[in-house]
Amino acid sequence: MIDPSLDFRINAERFREDFDILSQIGATPEGGVHRPSFSESHLEARAWLRQRILEDGLSFRSDGAGNYSAFLECGPQNSPTLLLGSHLDSVISGGRFDGALGVTAALEVLRTVKEVDRRLPVNLEAIDFTDEEGTLVGLLGSRALAGLLKQKEFQSPRGGREELQNGLARARLSEQDLFDAQRNAASLAGYLELHIEQGPRLQKAGMTIGVVTAIVGICSYRLSFIGRADHSGTTPMTERLDAALGASSFILGVRQTILEEFPDCVANVGALNLSPGAFNIVPERADLSLEFRSSDSSSYQRLEEVLIQLARTKAQDYGLRLEIEFLGKHFPTPMSSIAQQAIVQAADALGLAHTPLVSGAGHDAQSLAEMCPAGMIFVPSEGGASHSPREFTRWEDCVNGANVLLGAALRMAEIVGGRRTWKE
Ligand code: HGY
Ligand code: MN
Ligand code: MN
Repeated sequence: MIDPSLDFRINAERFREDFDILSQIGATPEGGVHRPSFSESHLEARAWLRQRILEDGLSFRSDGAGNYSAFLECGPQNSPTLLLGSHLDSVISGGRFDGALGVTAALEVLRTVKEVDRRLPVNLEAIDFTDEEGTLVGLLGSRALAGLLKQKEFQSPRGGREELQNGLARARLSEQDLFDAQRNAASLAGYLELHIEQGPRLQKAGMTIGVVTAIVGICSYRLSFIGRADHSGTTPMTERLDAALGASSFILGVRQTILEEFPDCVANVGALNLSPGAFNIVPERADLSLEFRSSDSSSYQRLEEVLIQLARTKAQDYGLRLEIEFLGKHFPTPMSSIAQQAIVQAADALGLAHTPLVSGAGHDAQSLAEMCPAGMIFVPSEGGASHSPREFTRWEDCVNGANVLLGAALRMAEIVGGRRTWKE
C-alpha cells in the first residue's frame, strides 16, 4: 500500500492566499467575519469560490440546496466520490476559521492531487455546504444531500420562515429544489472535514490534531413566557404578571440543572426578547431561544424532558402562560472508525501528536455519517475561542491540518476504494 503522506504535501502558500482572500469577504472591524447564510457577503464568498474552482481547472458543481463544489475525476470510470468539505457561511459576527478553513483546505487537497496527477480508486470533491450554522435551518445543505430534510421543518425553522424564504430567493433556490439535492449513498466513498476545535481541549493537552470520535446532538426550542402588560409605576410588585421574571428564573434554572444533573451536557439561551419593551411597562412577553447539546442519547432525551418541565414550572410560579415551539433536533452521531483510522495513520506519518475527542459543536459530518464513512480532523483553537472575532488558529496548525486531510483522504481512498456499500 502506498504511504501517501510521505509522497507530497499541500502548497501552504497557495492555501494561505485563498484563506486570506476569503477572510476579507464579510470581514468585520474586530477581525472576524459576518457571512450569515445567503447574506450578501456569503453570496460574495461563494462567487469567489466558484471563480477559484474554475481558475484551478477543476469542474464546478452546485445542487438544489445551493451546495457549491469542485470536482476532480481522479478515479476509474463511475468511481464513487470521496467528499472533503465544510461551510462558508458563518454565525453573525463570527470568526474567520469556522468552516472557511475546511473549505479552503479541501480545495487545496484537490489541487495538490491534480498537480501530481495522482490516480486514486475514487474521485474527489471539495464541497461548501449551505447554511451549516443554522441562521436559517441548520446543516441545511448537508442534510439535503443526505436526504434527511422534511418539509415540515421549513414551517418553523430556527431562523424564522420568512428569513428562510427570503434567503432562498436571494440564492435563487426554492424549497422544492432542496429536495433535489439528495444523492445516492452508493455514489459516495466517504466524507472528511477539517475544522477548528472551537474549544480549549487540544491546546490545553498540547495536542496538534484532534481525531473526532463523535459529534453532539443539538436541539432547539423557542419558548415564550406570557404575562400581562401593566404600568411599571402604579402596579404593586405582588400583583404583576411579569414575563421577564419567568424567563430569567428559567434561564438560571437551566444552568443549575445542567451543572447539578447533566454534567456531560451544555445548554444556552442565546436570544431573549422582552415586549412591548419599554422602561415603564411591565413586560407582557418574553421570547427566548433555547439550545441544548449532548453526545449521549439517553442524557439528551432526559434533558429535553427536564428542561421543558422546568419551563412549565417557572411559568406556573409567576402566573404566566407558556408557549413552546420545537425548532429542530440533530442526533448525537459517532464518526466512522474507517475515517478515524485514516486520520490517525496520516497524523502518525506526519509525526503529529493526536488525540481522540468528541465534538461539542455540530457539523455537516453528522449528516454525511448517515450515508457514508464520515470523519473529522480538528486543529487547536487559541484559548478555545470561536463564534467570535477572537477565533484564532496558528497558521502552522492550519497547514498541519490540511496535510492530515490530504494524507487521510489518500488513505481512505485506498481503504474504501471503489466499494459501493459499507457497514462499520
Ligand atoms: O453551532 C455549532 O455547533 C456549529 O458551529 N455550527
Ligand atoms: Mn463550523
Ligand atoms: Mn460554527
